[in-house]
Amino acid sequence: LSTTEIDISHVEVGQAITVLWRGKPVFVRHRTPEEIKEAEDVNIKELRDPQTDQQRVQKPEWLVMVGVCTHLGCVPLGQKPTDPKGEFGGWFCPCHGSQYDTSGRIRKGPAPRNLEIPAYIFETDTTLLVG
Ligand code: FES
Repeated sequence: LSTTEIDISHVEVGQAITVLWRGKPVFVRHRTPEEIKEAEDVNIKELRDPQTDQQRVQKPEWLVMVGVCTHLGCVPLGQKPTDPKGEFGGWFCPCHGSQYDTSGRIRKGPAPRNLEIPAYIFETDTTLLVG
């Protein structure tokens, strides 16, 4: 099957989980109010791949993305509490230094595009269906 069910009931505010979907990591981050505000306050004219935060989420507290760097496909760091998150508080790609913000948008480094948003729905408040 090409869809994957993800239980997010145990993911606390500020935590993130990684789930495999079609062989790719999917990042789910339960964003803090500060992370949401940071993502929403960005002037999209400054972005390489201009997208508002609202265009990238269904519920502001849940960011769901494919965890594959849009440069050459490495898996960015930022999911574990001890991971480097880069200058923009999101994700840092260890391969060539791309940096993503708290909406997963590319902010610095060679990656051309924001981290991809997969098709998904909230099946319930605590269950996501990806794919
Ligand atoms: Fe991520 Fe090159 S693969 S910066």
